[in-house]
Amino acid sequence: MINIAIDGPSGAGKSTIAKAVAKAKGYIYVDTGALYRSIGLWVARKDIAKEDKENIISELDNITLELGYVEGTQRVYLNGEDVSNDIRTPEISMYASAVSAIPEVRAFLLDLQRDMAKKHNVIMDGRDIGTVILPDATVKIFMTASPEGRAKRRYKELCEKGIETTYEEVLSDMIERDRNDSTRDVAPAVPAEDAIHFDNSSDGIENSVAELIEIIDKAIEAKK
Ligand code: DC
Repeated sequence: MINIAIDGPSGAGKSTIAKAVAKAKGYIYVDTGALYRSIGLWVARKDIAKEDKENIISELDNITLELGYVEGTQRVYLNGEDVSNDIRTPEISMYASAVSAIPEVRAFLLDLQRDMAKKHNVIMDGRDIGTVILPDATVKIFMTASPEGRAKRRYKELCEKGIETTYEEVLSDMIERDRNDSTRDVAPAVPAEDAIHFDNSSDGIENSVAELIEIIDKAIEAKK
């Protein structure tokens, strides 16, 4: 199977670019952030505090998560309910970041992610795909962009979805989330040693997609 790992901070453009690459190459796009967000949503709905690790861990017994694809788009099911839209709010982003720092939560999601990669050619988007989930991935990409560029992109996405927020709020949430995600003890969002660094600040989407496809094709050729 071909397994492409795409890691990097939020808003670097991973999902937009990975989706386009998946479409062009016929791979399945796996958004692993949706899994952490779904657990965050469950915790928020239960009125459990983000810091309450003990109760968050015991809730894992009450959660089943599944990924499905509807017309090529990933959907995530939390105990059978499609929560794909509910997990995209700024509040749930912060819950996702908090639950993702808990080792038991990460262990809970490990098999689901590895199974997808075992069964399908995937391009998997996350923070620890190249370092932890798929250490033998065909290609590992670490995608970055400036915080301002990333916040601008995220702000635009949220506005388009009709979610009320400000650019300043998005930027400060993003900086806080980056700090949480990259300094936590388990699976911090850092590049794998053999990751290819990909700066997505300036290029238009089409250029980035073409460049990434070239990198992937070369790596597949080299492994033959
Ligand atoms: O990619 P995203 O913004 O949807 O991710 C939501 C949160 O989940 C983010 O704060 C980091 C965390 N996450 C993670 O720790 N590991 C992953 N593989 C994907 C996401």
